[in-house]
Amino acid sequence: MGNKTFTIIKPDAFGAGNSGPIIEKIEKAGFNIENMRLLKLDEDSASKFYSVHKEKPFFGRLCDYMCSGPIIVMELNKENAVEDFRKLIGATNPEDAEEGTIRKLFATSIEANAIHGSDSDENAEIEINFFFN
Ligand code: CMP
Repeated sequence: MGNKTFTIIKPDAFGAGNSGPIIEKIEKAGFNIENMRLLKLDEDSASKFYSVHKEKPFFGRLCDYMCSGPIIVMELNKENAVEDFRKLIGATNPEDAEEGTIRKLFATSIEANAIHGSDSDENAEIEINFFFN
């Protein structure tokens, strides 16, 4: 069980002014912010970051969307970080997300789903290194 995860506050949530409430929920849930950056992705970086999805029908739209406005990327620390963070954010599709989760509260669609969370310790490491090394 690892103690690191990686998150992105996506363009929809940042643009709607929801970064503050989202960060508050993350900290109140016991995560420590180890690293944080505000940035705007370009298409090249977005397609590298999401290369695991490159055969998916939504890949082009996903990359365009992730480049559509500023994002906040964070490295987070907590015991059992990956699993606990995925519980905090809820299901990928906000329609399926539980009450009180970040996506239920702030996401508007499966694409504009407010926030990303790493799906494994291995990917957390890769994603942290992508933005912070
Ligand atoms: P996330 O898990 O953060 O990273 C991959 C993203 O792809 C995911 O969030 C969704 O925003 C997006 N995604 C996944 N499935 C679909 C889908 N069926 N249609 C559109 N976007 C999707």
